[in-house]
Amino acid sequence: MCGIVGYIGENDATPILLRALKRLEYRGYDSAGLVVIGDGLSYYKDKGMIDSLMQTLPKISGKVGLGHTRWATHGKPSKENAHPFLDCKGKIALIHNGIIENHMELRKQLIEEGHKFTSETDTEAMVHLIEKHYNGDIEKAVRESLKQVHGSYAIAVIHADEKDKIIAARNESPLVIGIGGGENFIASDVAALLDYTNEVAYVMDNEIVKLTKQGFEITTIKGESVSRTTETVNWTVEDAEKGGYEHYMLKEIFEQPNAIHDSLLGRIPDLTLNGFLDGNFNTIKIIACGTSYHAGLIGKYVFESFSKVPVVVEMGSEYRYSEPVYENTLVVLITQSGETADTLAAAKEAKRRGSMTIAITNVVGSSITREVDYTFYTRAGPEIGVAATKTFTTQLVALYILGITLGLIKRTLEYDRIRELTSTLRKLSRYVQSVLDDTEHIENCALTMKNATDVFYIGRNINYPTALEGALKFKEISYIHAEGYPAGELKHGPLALLTPRTPVVAIAPKDHTYEKMLGNISEVSARGSPVIAIGYQEDTELEKVADHVIYVPEVPALFSPIPITVVVQLLAYYVARDRKCSIDKPRHLAKSVTVE
Ligand code: AGP
Repeated sequence: MCGIVGYIGENDATPILLRALKRLEYRGYDSAGLVVIGDGLSYYKDKGMIDSLMQTLPKISGKVGLGHTRWATHGKPSKENAHPFLDCKGKIALIHNGIIENHMELRKQLIEEGHKFTSETDTEAMVHLIEKHYNGDIEKAVRESLKQVHGSYAIAVIHADEKDKIIAARNESPLVIGIGGGENFIASDVAALLDYTNEVAYVMDNEIVKLTKQGFEITTIKGESVSRTTETVNWTVEDAEKGGYEHYMLKEIFEQPNAIHDSLLGRIPDLTLNGFLDGNFNTIKIIACGTSYHAGLIGKYVFESFSKVPVVVEMGSEYRYSEPVYENTLVVLITQSGETADTLAAAKEAKRRGSMTIAITNVVGSSITREVDYTFYTRAGPEIGVAATKTFTTQLVALYILGITLGLIKRTLEYDRIRELTSTLRKLSRYVQSVLDDTEHIENCALTMKNATDVFYIGRNINYPTALEGALKFKEISYIHAEGYPAGELKHGPLALLTPRTPVVAIAPKDHTYEKMLGNISEVSARGSPVIAIGYQEDTELEKVADHVIYVPEVPALFSPIPITVVVQLLAYYVARDRKCSIDKPRHLAKSVTVE
Protein backbone atom coordinates (compact mmCIF):
# COMPACT_ATOMS: atom_id res chain seq x y z
CA MET A 1 0.00 0.00 0.00
CA CYS A 2 1.39 3.40 -1.01
CA GLY A 3 0.05 6.94 -1.17
CA ILE A 4 -0.08 8.85 -4.45
CA VAL A 5 -0.99 12.46 -5.18
CA GLY A 6 -0.97 14.75 -8.21
CA TYR A 7 -1.54 18.50 -8.60
CA ILE A 8 -2.21 20.73 -11.61
CA GLY A 9 -3.06 24.42 -11.28
CA GLU A 10 -1.65 27.93 -10.96
CA ASN A 11 0.26 27.47 -7.70
CA ASP A 12 3.66 26.03 -6.94
CA ALA A 13 3.04 22.27 -6.80
CA THR A 14 5.87 21.34 -4.39
CA PRO A 15 4.43 22.59 -1.05
CA ILE A 16 0.97 21.32 -2.01
CA LEU A 17 2.31 17.86 -2.82
CA LEU A 18 4.35 17.71 0.38
CA ARG A 19 1.39 18.65 2.55
CA ALA A 20 -0.81 16.09 0.81
CA LEU A 21 1.87 13.42 1.22
CA LYS A 22 2.00 14.12 4.96
CA ARG A 23 -1.72 13.31 5.04
CA LEU A 24 -1.08 10.05 3.21
CA GLU A 25 1.83 8.91 5.32
CA TYR A 26 -0.29 6.32 7.15
CA ARG A 27 -0.50 4.47 3.80
CA GLY A 28 3.25 3.96 3.63
CA TYR A 29 6.30 5.58 5.07
CA ASP A 30 9.51 3.86 4.07
CA SER A 31 10.43 6.24 1.26
CA ALA A 32 8.98 9.21 -0.58
CA GLY A 33 9.49 11.35 -3.64
CA LEU A 34 8.06 13.99 -5.91
CA VAL A 35 8.39 15.26 -9.45
CA VAL A 36 7.27 18.52 -11.07
CA ILE A 37 7.27 19.89 -14.60
CA GLY A 38 9.28 23.11 -14.63
CA ASP A 39 11.95 23.51 -17.20
CA GLY A 40 11.72 19.79 -18.03
CA LEU A 41 11.14 17.29 -15.23
CA SER A 42 12.68 17.93 -11.81
CA TYR A 43 12.41 15.17 -9.25
CA TYR A 44 13.70 14.13 -5.87
CA LYS A 45 13.22 10.91 -3.92
CA ASP A 46 14.79 9.13 -1.00
CA LYS A 47 14.44 6.49 1.68
CA GLY A 48 12.69 7.69 4.85
CA MET A 49 9.58 9.55 5.89
CA ILE A 50 8.13 12.77 4.49
CA ASP A 51 9.77 14.89 7.21
CA SER A 52 13.21 13.73 6.14
CA LEU A 53 12.32 14.33 2.49
CA MET A 54 11.30 17.89 3.41
CA GLN A 55 14.63 18.50 5.10
CA THR A 56 16.77 17.40 2.18
CA LEU A 57 14.59 18.43 -0.77
CA PRO A 58 16.35 20.86 -3.14
CA LYS A 59 14.30 23.75 -4.54
CA ILE A 60 12.17 22.37 -7.34
CA SER A 61 9.13 24.17 -8.64
CA GLY A 62 6.46 23.89 -11.27
CA LYS A 63 2.70 24.04 -11.54
CA VAL A 64 2.15 20.39 -12.31
CA GLY A 65 3.52 17.55 -10.21
CA LEU A 66 3.21 14.16 -8.57
CA GLY A 67 4.11 12.88 -5.09
CA HIS A 68 4.46 9.41 -3.63
CA THR A 69 4.91 7.83 -0.21
CA ARG A 70 5.92 4.18 -0.36
CA TRP A 71 5.21 0.97 1.51
CA ALA A 72 7.59 -1.46 -0.13
CA THR A 73 6.33 -4.67 -1.74
CA HIS A 74 9.00 -5.32 -4.41
CA GLY A 75 12.50 -4.21 -3.51
CA LYS A 76 13.75 -2.84 -0.21
CA PRO A 77 13.18 0.76 0.86
CA SER A 78 15.93 2.73 -0.90
CA LYS A 79 16.48 5.81 -3.03
CA GLU A 80 16.55 3.66 -6.19
CA ASN A 81 13.29 1.90 -5.37
CA ALA A 82 11.44 5.08 -4.33
CA HIS A 83 8.93 6.68 -6.73
CA PRO A 84 8.68 8.55 -9.10
CA PHE A 85 10.19 6.47 -11.88
CA LEU A 86 11.39 8.14 -15.06
CA ASP A 87 11.79 6.71 -18.54
CA CYS A 88 15.23 6.48 -20.18
CA LYS A 89 14.97 9.95 -21.74
CA GLY A 90 13.85 11.58 -18.49
CA LYS A 91 10.66 12.90 -20.08
CA ILE A 92 7.97 10.69 -18.53
CA ALA A 93 7.44 10.30 -14.77
CA LEU A 94 5.16 7.78 -13.09
CA ILE A 95 4.00 6.97 -9.56
CA HIS A 96 2.11 3.82 -8.61
CA ASN A 97 0.21 2.14 -5.81
CA GLY A 98 -0.52 -1.57 -6.26
CA ILE A 99 1.20 -4.68 -7.56
CA ILE A 100 2.06 -5.42 -11.18
CA GLU A 101 1.70 -9.16 -11.52
CA ASN A 102 3.44 -9.62 -14.87
CA HIS A 103 6.31 -7.21 -14.16
CA MET A 104 9.00 -9.89 -14.59
CA GLU A 105 8.05 -10.72 -18.16
CA LEU A 106 7.52 -7.03 -19.03
CA ARG A 107 10.92 -6.18 -17.58
CA LYS A 108 12.64 -8.99 -19.48
CA GLN A 109 11.07 -7.96 -22.77
CA LEU A 110 11.79 -4.23 -22.27
CA ILE A 111 15.43 -4.89 -21.31
CA GLU A 112 15.81 -6.95 -24.50
CA GLU A 113 14.44 -3.95 -26.39
CA GLY A 114 17.09 -1.69 -24.86
CA HIS A 115 15.38 -0.07 -21.85
CA LYS A 116 17.61 0.49 -18.84
CA PHE A 117 16.16 -0.36 -15.41
CA THR A 118 17.47 1.24 -12.23
CA SER A 119 15.32 -0.37 -9.51
CA GLU A 120 14.08 -3.72 -8.20
CA THR A 121 10.44 -2.63 -8.27
CA ASP A 122 7.48 -4.01 -10.19
CA THR A 123 6.46 -0.41 -10.99
CA GLU A 124 9.41 0.57 -13.14
CA ALA A 125 8.34 -1.71 -16.00
CA MET A 126 5.29 0.52 -16.52
CA VAL A 127 7.21 3.72 -17.18
CA HIS A 128 9.35 1.97 -19.78
CA LEU A 129 6.28 0.43 -21.36
CA ILE A 130 4.71 3.88 -21.63
CA GLU A 131 7.96 5.20 -23.15
CA LYS A 132 7.81 2.39 -25.71
CA HIS A 133 4.26 3.35 -26.72
CA TYR A 134 4.82 7.13 -26.63
CA ASN A 135 4.28 8.87 -29.90
CA GLY A 136 3.52 12.46 -28.93
CA ASP A 137 0.38 11.67 -26.88
CA ILE A 138 0.87 10.58 -23.26
CA GLU A 139 -2.78 9.59 -22.73
CA LYS A 140 -2.66 7.27 -25.71
CA ALA A 141 0.64 5.77 -24.54
CA VAL A 142 -0.77 5.07 -21.07
CA ARG A 143 -3.89 3.48 -22.58
CA GLU A 144 -1.86 1.21 -24.87
CA SER A 145 0.47 0.22 -22.04
CA LEU A 146 -2.28 -0.67 -19.59
CA LYS A 147 -3.65 -3.18 -22.06
CA GLN A 148 -0.46 -5.18 -21.42
CA VAL A 149 -0.40 -4.81 -17.64
CA HIS A 150 -1.91 -7.36 -15.21
CA GLY A 151 -2.36 -6.61 -11.55
CA SER A 152 -3.58 -3.84 -9.32
CA TYR A 153 -2.70 -0.22 -9.83
CA ALA A 154 -3.50 3.40 -9.26
CA ILE A 155 -1.01 5.37 -11.34
CA ALA A 156 -0.40 8.99 -12.23
CA VAL A 157 1.82 9.97 -15.15
CA ILE A 158 3.19 13.25 -16.53
CA HIS A 159 5.21 14.12 -19.62
CA ALA A 160 7.66 17.03 -19.68
CA ASP A 161 6.34 18.22 -23.07
CA GLU A 162 2.65 17.98 -22.13
CA LYS A 163 2.47 20.41 -19.22
CA ASP A 164 -1.27 20.80 -19.43
CA LYS A 165 -2.28 17.39 -18.09
CA ILE A 166 -1.83 14.56 -15.65
CA ILE A 167 -2.94 11.11 -16.80
CA ALA A 168 -4.10 8.74 -14.07
CA ALA A 169 -5.64 5.27 -14.11
CA ARG A 170 -7.04 2.73 -11.72
CA ASN A 171 -7.54 -1.00 -11.37
CA GLU A 172 -8.21 -2.45 -7.89
CA SER A 173 -6.34 0.33 -6.06
CA PRO A 174 -8.15 3.44 -4.84
CA LEU A 175 -8.06 6.71 -6.78
CA VAL A 176 -10.02 9.92 -6.28
CA ILE A 177 -10.12 13.24 -8.11
CA GLY A 178 -10.22 16.47 -6.08
CA ILE A 179 -11.89 19.43 -7.75
CA GLY A 180 -10.68 22.93 -6.90
CA GLY A 181 -11.31 26.25 -8.67
CA GLY A 182 -8.74 26.42 -11.50
CA GLU A 183 -6.70 23.66 -9.91
CA ASN A 184 -7.31 19.92 -9.63
CA PHE A 185 -5.90 16.97 -7.77
CA ILE A 186 -5.63 13.22 -7.98
CA ALA A 187 -4.90 11.05 -4.94
CA SER A 188 -5.12 7.63 -3.34
CA ASP A 189 -7.73 8.92 -0.95
CA VAL A 190 -9.52 12.02 0.21
CA ALA A 191 -7.22 12.52 3.22
CA ALA A 192 -4.70 14.05 0.80
CA LEU A 193 -7.23 16.51 -0.61
CA LEU A 194 -9.10 17.90 2.36
CA ASP A 195 -6.73 20.81 2.97
CA TYR A 196 -7.65 22.04 -0.52
CA THR A 197 -11.12 20.81 -1.47
CA ASN A 198 -13.96 18.59 -0.35
CA GLU A 199 -15.48 18.16 -3.80
CA VAL A 200 -14.42 14.81 -5.20
CA ALA A 201 -15.12 12.27 -7.93
CA TYR A 202 -14.20 8.62 -7.52
CA VAL A 203 -12.37 6.77 -10.28
CA MET A 204 -13.47 3.16 -10.91
CA ASP A 205 -11.62 0.05 -12.11
CA ASN A 206 -10.30 0.09 -15.68
CA GLU A 207 -10.76 3.84 -16.03
CA ILE A 208 -8.30 6.46 -17.25
CA VAL A 209 -8.48 10.11 -16.17
CA LYS A 210 -7.17 13.13 -18.05
CA LEU A 211 -6.77 15.84 -15.43
CA THR A 212 -6.25 19.45 -16.46
CA LYS A 213 -6.44 22.61 -14.40
CA GLN A 214 -9.90 23.27 -15.83
CA GLY A 215 -11.42 19.84 -15.11
CA PHE A 216 -11.27 16.14 -15.79
CA GLU A 217 -12.34 13.61 -18.40
CA ILE A 218 -12.80 9.92 -17.66
CA THR A 219 -12.69 7.16 -20.25
CA THR A 220 -12.48 3.39 -19.99
CA ILE A 221 -9.26 1.67 -21.00
CA LYS A 222 -11.03 0.74 -24.25
CA GLY A 223 -11.63 4.46 -24.87
CA GLU A 224 -15.37 4.79 -24.15
CA SER A 225 -16.22 8.04 -22.42
CA VAL A 226 -17.67 7.91 -18.90
CA SER A 227 -19.67 10.56 -17.07
CA ARG A 228 -19.09 10.84 -13.34
CA THR A 229 -20.88 13.04 -10.86
CA THR A 230 -18.94 14.76 -8.11
CA GLU A 231 -19.61 14.37 -4.39
CA THR A 232 -19.04 16.55 -1.36
CA VAL A 233 -17.28 14.89 1.55
CA ASN A 234 -17.75 16.14 5.08
CA TRP A 235 -14.93 14.23 6.75
CA THR A 236 -12.21 15.65 8.92
CA VAL A 237 -8.66 14.78 7.88
CA GLU A 238 -8.48 12.28 10.75
CA ASP A 239 -11.71 10.59 9.58
CA ALA A 240 -10.31 10.42 6.09
CA GLU A 241 -7.05 8.79 7.21
CA LYS A 242 -9.12 6.10 8.85
CA GLY A 243 -11.23 5.84 5.70
CA GLY A 244 -14.27 6.96 7.70
CA TYR A 245 -13.85 4.13 10.23
CA GLU A 246 -13.82 4.94 13.91
CA HIS A 247 -10.51 3.16 14.49
CA TYR A 248 -7.56 1.96 12.44
CA MET A 249 -8.23 -1.55 13.73
CA LEU A 250 -11.71 -1.58 12.21
CA LYS A 251 -10.39 -0.16 8.95
CA GLU A 252 -7.69 -2.82 8.88
CA ILE A 253 -10.23 -5.58 9.55
CA PHE A 254 -12.22 -4.32 6.57
CA GLU A 255 -9.07 -4.14 4.41
CA GLN A 256 -8.61 -7.90 4.70
CA PRO A 257 -10.28 -8.88 1.40
CA ASN A 258 -7.82 -6.66 -0.48
CA ALA A 259 -4.84 -7.65 1.65
CA ILE A 260 -5.57 -11.35 1.04
CA HIS A 261 -6.06 -10.75 -2.67
CA ASP A 262 -2.79 -8.80 -2.97
CA SER A 263 -0.84 -11.37 -0.97
CA LEU A 264 -1.89 -14.10 -3.39
CA LEU A 265 -1.20 -12.21 -6.62
CA GLY A 266 1.04 -14.17 -8.94
CA ARG A 267 2.46 -16.65 -6.46
CA ILE A 268 0.60 -19.91 -6.03
CA PRO A 269 2.92 -21.79 -5.73
CA ASP A 270 5.94 -19.65 -4.82
CA LEU A 271 8.14 -20.53 -7.80
CA THR A 272 11.13 -18.62 -6.43
CA LEU A 273 11.14 -20.74 -3.26
CA ASN A 274 10.56 -23.84 -5.36
CA GLY A 275 13.78 -23.09 -7.24
CA PHE A 276 15.65 -22.08 -4.09
CA LEU A 277 14.89 -24.89 -1.64
CA ASP A 278 15.88 -28.52 -2.06
CA GLY A 279 13.87 -31.23 -0.31
CA ASN A 280 16.68 -32.04 2.08
CA PHE A 281 14.84 -31.46 5.37
CA ASN A 282 12.86 -33.88 7.48
CA THR A 283 11.38 -31.56 10.12
CA ILE A 284 9.96 -28.06 9.95
CA LYS A 285 10.15 -25.73 12.90
CA ILE A 286 7.92 -22.65 12.96
CA ILE A 287 8.98 -19.90 15.36
CA ALA A 288 7.04 -16.73 16.21
CA CYS A 289 5.47 -14.66 19.01
CA GLY A 290 1.93 -13.60 19.90
CA THR A 291 -0.50 -13.52 17.01
CA SER A 292 2.22 -14.63 14.61
CA TYR A 293 2.71 -17.69 16.84
CA HIS A 294 -0.98 -18.49 16.39
CA ALA A 295 -0.50 -18.24 12.63
CA GLY A 296 2.39 -20.69 13.09
CA LEU A 297 0.14 -23.15 14.95
CA ILE A 298 -2.30 -23.05 12.03
CA GLY A 299 0.68 -23.42 9.68
CA LYS A 300 1.53 -26.73 11.37
CA TYR A 301 -1.76 -28.27 10.21
CA VAL A 302 -1.31 -26.81 6.72
CA PHE A 303 2.32 -27.88 6.24
CA GLU A 304 1.74 -31.38 7.64
CA SER A 305 -1.29 -31.87 5.43
CA PHE A 306 0.38 -30.60 2.24
CA SER A 307 3.98 -31.80 2.65
CA LYS A 308 3.68 -34.69 5.15
CA VAL A 309 6.72 -33.31 6.99
CA PRO A 310 6.36 -33.18 10.81
CA VAL A 311 6.14 -29.62 12.17
CA VAL A 312 7.04 -28.27 15.60
CA VAL A 313 5.90 -24.76 16.57
CA GLU A 314 7.83 -22.80 19.17
CA MET A 315 7.61 -19.36 20.70
CA GLY A 316 10.48 -17.08 19.79
CA SER A 317 11.18 -16.44 23.46
CA GLU A 318 11.56 -20.18 24.17
CA TYR A 319 13.43 -21.48 21.14
CA ARG A 320 16.84 -20.15 22.14
CA TYR A 321 16.74 -22.10 25.37
CA SER A 322 15.58 -25.39 23.87
CA GLU A 323 17.81 -28.37 23.15
CA PRO A 324 18.92 -28.58 19.50
CA VAL A 325 17.61 -32.13 19.08
CA TYR A 326 16.32 -31.88 15.51
CA GLU A 327 18.56 -32.33 12.50
CA ASN A 328 17.88 -31.27 8.90
CA THR A 329 15.33 -28.78 10.08
CA LEU A 330 13.78 -26.12 7.92
CA VAL A 331 13.01 -23.13 10.16
CA VAL A 332 10.16 -20.75 9.29
CA LEU A 333 10.06 -17.51 11.29
CA ILE A 334 6.85 -15.46 11.27
CA THR A 335 6.82 -11.80 12.28
CA GLN A 336 4.63 -9.10 10.78
CA SER A 337 6.97 -6.30 11.86
CA GLY A 338 10.19 -8.16 11.13
CA GLU A 339 11.60 -6.49 14.24
CA THR A 340 10.45 -8.66 17.17
CA ALA A 341 13.57 -9.20 19.29
CA ASP A 342 12.68 -12.75 20.36
CA THR A 343 12.04 -13.85 16.78
CA LEU A 344 15.23 -12.16 15.55
CA ALA A 345 17.24 -13.91 18.25
CA ALA A 346 15.63 -17.20 17.23
CA ALA A 347 16.58 -16.59 13.58
CA LYS A 348 20.23 -16.10 14.60
CA GLU A 349 20.13 -19.21 16.75
CA ALA A 350 18.57 -21.27 13.95
CA LYS A 351 21.40 -20.21 11.62
CA ARG A 352 23.93 -21.09 14.29
CA ARG A 353 22.36 -24.54 14.49
CA GLY A 354 22.82 -24.90 10.75
CA SER A 355 19.18 -24.72 9.66
CA MET A 356 17.89 -23.26 6.42
CA THR A 357 15.69 -20.29 7.42
CA ILE A 358 12.64 -18.66 5.82
CA ALA A 359 10.92 -15.53 7.13
CA ILE A 360 7.32 -14.47 6.61
CA THR A 361 7.04 -10.75 7.22
CA ASN A 362 5.02 -7.72 6.15
CA VAL A 363 7.81 -5.16 6.21
CA VAL A 364 10.19 -5.15 3.26
CA GLY A 365 13.79 -4.70 4.33
CA SER A 366 13.00 -5.24 8.05
CA SER A 367 15.69 -6.75 10.31
CA ILE A 368 14.50 -10.36 9.98
CA THR A 369 15.10 -10.25 6.21
CA ARG A 370 18.82 -9.77 6.85
CA GLU A 371 18.99 -12.80 9.16
CA VAL A 372 17.34 -15.43 6.97
CA ASP A 373 18.06 -17.30 3.75
CA TYR A 374 14.73 -16.54 2.12
CA THR A 375 11.93 -14.04 2.76
CA PHE A 376 8.28 -14.34 1.81
CA TYR A 377 6.48 -11.00 2.05
CA THR A 378 2.84 -10.67 2.95
CA ARG A 379 1.27 -7.69 1.24
CA ALA A 380 -1.06 -6.36 3.90
CA GLY A 381 0.17 -2.76 3.71
CA PRO A 382 0.96 -0.81 6.88
CA GLU A 383 -0.92 -1.88 9.98
CA ILE A 384 -1.32 0.98 12.42
CA GLY A 385 -3.49 -0.67 15.09
CA VAL A 386 -1.40 -2.50 17.68
CA ALA A 387 -3.74 -5.50 17.44
CA ALA A 388 -2.64 -7.55 14.45
CA THR A 389 -5.54 -8.24 12.08
CA LYS A 390 -4.81 -8.07 8.36
CA THR A 391 -1.20 -9.07 8.96
CA PHE A 392 -2.47 -12.28 10.63
CA THR A 393 -4.82 -13.36 7.84
CA THR A 394 -2.15 -12.60 5.23
CA GLN A 395 0.35 -14.66 7.25
CA LEU A 396 -2.12 -17.52 6.89
CA VAL A 397 -2.24 -16.88 3.14
CA ALA A 398 1.58 -17.02 3.09
CA LEU A 399 1.50 -20.33 4.97
CA TYR A 400 -0.96 -21.83 2.48
CA ILE A 401 1.24 -20.72 -0.42
CA LEU A 402 4.42 -22.03 1.24
CA GLY A 403 2.59 -25.23 2.20
CA ILE A 404 1.62 -25.87 -1.43
CA THR A 405 5.20 -25.10 -2.48
CA LEU A 406 6.59 -27.54 0.10
CA GLY A 407 4.11 -30.12 -1.17
CA LEU A 408 5.53 -29.62 -4.66
CA ILE A 409 9.11 -29.88 -3.41
CA LYS A 410 8.33 -33.03 -1.43
CA ARG A 411 6.11 -34.39 -4.24
CA THR A 412 3.25 -35.00 -1.84
CA LEU A 413 0.58 -33.01 -3.70
CA GLU A 414 -1.04 -34.24 -6.88
CA TYR A 415 -1.71 -31.74 -9.66
CA ASP A 416 -5.51 -31.97 -9.19
CA ARG A 417 -5.20 -31.29 -5.48
CA ILE A 418 -3.05 -28.19 -6.16
CA ARG A 419 -5.68 -26.96 -8.60
CA GLU A 420 -8.38 -27.46 -5.99
CA LEU A 421 -6.34 -25.68 -3.28
CA THR A 422 -5.52 -22.80 -5.62
CA SER A 423 -9.15 -22.34 -6.50
CA THR A 424 -10.14 -22.16 -2.81
CA LEU A 425 -7.34 -19.70 -2.08
CA ARG A 426 -8.59 -17.45 -4.86
CA LYS A 427 -12.07 -17.40 -3.33
CA LEU A 428 -10.91 -16.52 0.19
CA SER A 429 -11.09 -12.77 -0.16
CA ARG A 430 -14.71 -13.07 -1.36
CA TYR A 431 -15.59 -15.23 1.64
CA VAL A 432 -14.07 -12.66 3.97
CA GLN A 433 -15.96 -9.90 2.20
CA SER A 434 -19.21 -11.74 2.75
CA VAL A 435 -18.51 -11.89 6.53
CA LEU A 436 -17.82 -8.15 6.46
CA ASP A 437 -20.97 -7.41 4.48
CA ASP A 438 -23.17 -8.34 7.42
CA THR A 439 -21.66 -7.43 10.79
CA GLU A 440 -24.79 -6.35 12.64
CA HIS A 441 -25.41 -9.79 14.12
CA ILE A 442 -21.78 -10.06 15.27
CA GLU A 443 -22.19 -6.67 16.95
CA ASN A 444 -25.31 -7.91 18.77
CA CYS A 445 -23.55 -11.07 19.93
CA ALA A 446 -20.70 -8.94 21.27
CA LEU A 447 -23.21 -7.21 23.56
CA THR A 448 -23.61 -10.46 25.46
CA MET A 449 -19.88 -10.48 26.25
CA LYS A 450 -19.19 -6.91 27.23
CA ASN A 451 -19.88 -7.20 30.97
CA ALA A 452 -18.14 -10.52 31.48
CA THR A 453 -15.01 -10.81 33.58
CA ASP A 454 -13.84 -14.01 31.89
CA VAL A 455 -14.47 -15.39 28.42
CA PHE A 456 -13.47 -18.76 26.99
CA TYR A 457 -12.79 -19.55 23.35
CA ILE A 458 -12.86 -23.20 22.33
CA GLY A 459 -12.09 -24.99 19.08
CA ARG A 460 -10.61 -28.23 17.83
CA ASN A 461 -7.90 -29.19 15.38
CA ILE A 462 -6.96 -26.29 13.08
CA ASN A 463 -9.40 -24.01 14.90
CA TYR A 464 -7.81 -24.53 18.29
CA PRO A 465 -5.24 -21.85 17.29
CA THR A 466 -8.13 -19.71 15.99
CA ALA A 467 -9.59 -19.94 19.51
CA LEU A 468 -6.24 -18.83 20.95
CA GLU A 469 -6.15 -15.90 18.55
CA GLY A 470 -9.75 -14.94 19.40
CA ALA A 471 -8.89 -14.90 23.10
CA LEU A 472 -5.67 -12.91 22.57
CA LYS A 473 -7.43 -10.29 20.46
CA PHE A 474 -10.21 -10.07 23.03
CA LYS A 475 -8.02 -9.60 26.11
CA GLU A 476 -5.58 -7.32 24.29
CA ILE A 477 -8.11 -4.63 23.41
CA SER A 478 -11.09 -5.12 25.75
CA TYR A 479 -9.04 -5.78 28.93
CA ILE A 480 -11.36 -8.66 29.81
CA HIS A 481 -9.67 -11.91 30.79
CA ALA A 482 -9.99 -14.48 28.02
CA GLU A 483 -8.52 -17.94 27.40
CA GLY A 484 -8.42 -20.17 24.38
CA TYR A 485 -8.67 -23.96 24.82
CA PRO A 486 -8.85 -27.07 22.71
CA ALA A 487 -12.53 -27.91 23.30
CA GLY A 488 -11.68 -31.41 24.55
CA GLU A 489 -9.48 -29.99 27.31
CA LEU A 490 -12.22 -28.09 29.15
CA LYS A 491 -13.23 -31.07 31.23
CA HIS A 492 -9.65 -31.50 32.42
CA GLY A 493 -9.81 -28.38 34.57
CA PRO A 494 -11.20 -25.15 33.12
CA LEU A 495 -14.81 -26.39 33.28
CA ALA A 496 -14.64 -25.60 37.00
CA LEU A 497 -14.61 -21.89 36.11
CA LEU A 498 -17.76 -21.89 33.99
CA THR A 499 -20.80 -20.06 35.35
CA PRO A 500 -23.75 -18.23 33.75
CA ARG A 501 -21.51 -15.14 33.73
CA THR A 502 -18.77 -16.80 31.65
CA PRO A 503 -19.54 -16.59 27.93
CA VAL A 504 -17.96 -19.25 25.73
CA VAL A 505 -17.19 -18.68 22.05
CA ALA A 506 -17.30 -22.09 20.36
CA ILE A 507 -15.73 -22.45 16.93
CA ALA A 508 -17.61 -25.25 15.18
CA PRO A 509 -17.25 -25.51 11.40
CA LYS A 510 -18.47 -28.80 9.91
CA ASP A 511 -15.18 -30.68 9.82
CA HIS A 512 -14.14 -34.09 11.15
CA THR A 513 -14.30 -32.79 14.75
CA TYR A 514 -17.78 -31.30 14.42
CA GLU A 515 -19.73 -33.99 16.29
CA LYS A 516 -17.27 -33.77 19.18
CA MET A 517 -17.63 -29.99 19.19
CA LEU A 518 -21.41 -30.32 19.52
CA GLY A 519 -20.83 -32.51 22.58
CA ASN A 520 -18.43 -29.94 24.07
CA ILE A 521 -20.91 -27.14 23.48
CA SER A 522 -23.58 -29.15 25.32
CA GLU A 523 -21.20 -29.65 28.27
CA VAL A 524 -20.72 -25.87 28.43
CA SER A 525 -24.45 -25.13 28.15
CA ALA A 526 -25.18 -27.60 30.94
CA ARG A 527 -23.08 -25.36 33.24
CA GLY A 528 -25.29 -22.39 32.31
CA SER A 529 -22.63 -20.52 30.33
CA PRO A 530 -23.97 -18.57 27.36
CA VAL A 531 -22.56 -20.01 24.11
CA ILE A 532 -21.81 -18.00 20.99
CA ALA A 533 -21.10 -20.55 18.27
CA ILE A 534 -19.38 -19.81 14.98
CA GLY A 535 -20.33 -22.26 12.25
CA TYR A 536 -21.03 -22.72 8.57
CA GLN A 537 -24.04 -21.25 6.80
CA GLU A 538 -26.90 -23.75 6.45
CA ASP A 539 -25.89 -25.55 9.66
CA THR A 540 -29.17 -25.89 11.58
CA GLU A 541 -27.78 -28.13 14.33
CA LEU A 542 -25.82 -25.38 16.04
CA GLU A 543 -28.93 -23.34 16.80
CA LYS A 544 -30.20 -26.22 18.91
CA VAL A 545 -27.21 -26.21 21.27
CA ALA A 546 -25.92 -22.62 21.26
CA ASP A 547 -27.52 -19.38 22.48
CA HIS A 548 -26.29 -17.41 19.47
CA VAL A 549 -24.84 -18.58 16.16
CA ILE A 550 -22.65 -16.54 13.82
CA TYR A 551 -22.45 -18.01 10.34
CA VAL A 552 -19.53 -17.87 7.93
CA PRO A 553 -19.43 -19.21 4.36
CA GLU A 554 -18.59 -22.89 4.10
CA VAL A 555 -14.96 -23.41 3.07
CA PRO A 556 -12.77 -26.55 3.13
CA ALA A 557 -11.82 -27.10 6.77
CA LEU A 558 -8.12 -26.27 6.36
CA PHE A 559 -9.07 -22.76 5.22
CA SER A 560 -11.78 -22.14 7.83
CA PRO A 561 -9.51 -20.13 10.20
CA ILE A 562 -9.56 -17.21 7.75
CA PRO A 563 -13.29 -16.30 7.73
CA ILE A 564 -13.66 -17.37 11.38
CA THR A 565 -10.78 -15.13 12.45
CA VAL A 566 -12.59 -12.15 10.98
CA VAL A 567 -15.55 -12.92 13.26
CA VAL A 568 -13.40 -13.18 16.41
CA GLN A 569 -11.60 -9.94 15.48
CA LEU A 570 -14.95 -8.17 15.20
CA LEU A 571 -16.25 -9.62 18.48
CA ALA A 572 -13.16 -8.24 20.24
CA TYR A 573 -13.48 -4.91 18.47
CA TYR A 574 -17.16 -4.32 19.28
CA VAL A 575 -16.74 -5.24 22.94
CA ALA A 576 -13.67 -2.97 23.27
CA ARG A 577 -15.51 -0.13 21.53
CA ASP A 578 -18.54 -0.46 23.84
CA ARG A 579 -16.21 -0.41 26.83
CA LYS A 580 -14.53 2.71 25.42
CA CYS A 581 -11.07 1.13 25.44
CA SER A 582 -8.08 2.59 23.67
CA ILE A 583 -8.43 0.23 20.73
CA ASP A 584 -5.59 1.28 18.44
CA LYS A 585 -3.10 1.69 21.27
CA PRO A 586 -4.00 -0.74 24.06
CA ARG A 587 -2.37 -0.03 27.41
CA HIS A 588 1.12 -1.43 28.06
CA LEU A 589 1.48 -2.76 24.49
CA ALA A 590 3.60 -1.73 21.51
CA LYS A 591 3.29 -2.46 17.80
CA SER A 592 6.71 -3.98 17.58
CA VAL A 593 8.39 -5.53 20.59
CA THR A 594 12.08 -4.85 20.16
CA VAL A 595 13.24 -6.04 23.58
CA GLU A 596 13.65 -9.65 24.67
C1 AGP B 1 -1.05 -9.12 18.33
O1 AGP B 1 -2.27 -8.49 18.27
C2 AGP B 1 -0.02 -8.51 19.15
N1 AGP B 1 0.08 -7.13 18.95
C3 AGP B 1 1.27 -9.28 19.35
O2 AGP B 1 0.95 -10.51 19.91
C4 AGP B 1 2.18 -9.53 18.12
O3 AGP B 1 1.56 -10.44 17.26
C5 AGP B 1 3.54 -10.05 18.60
O4 AGP B 1 4.17 -9.07 19.38
C6 AGP B 1 4.44 -10.47 17.47
O5 AGP B 1 4.70 -9.40 16.61
P1 AGP B 1 5.39 -9.62 15.20
O6 AGP B 1 4.44 -10.37 14.34
O7 AGP B 1 5.65 -8.24 14.70
O8 AGP B 1 6.64 -10.40 15.44
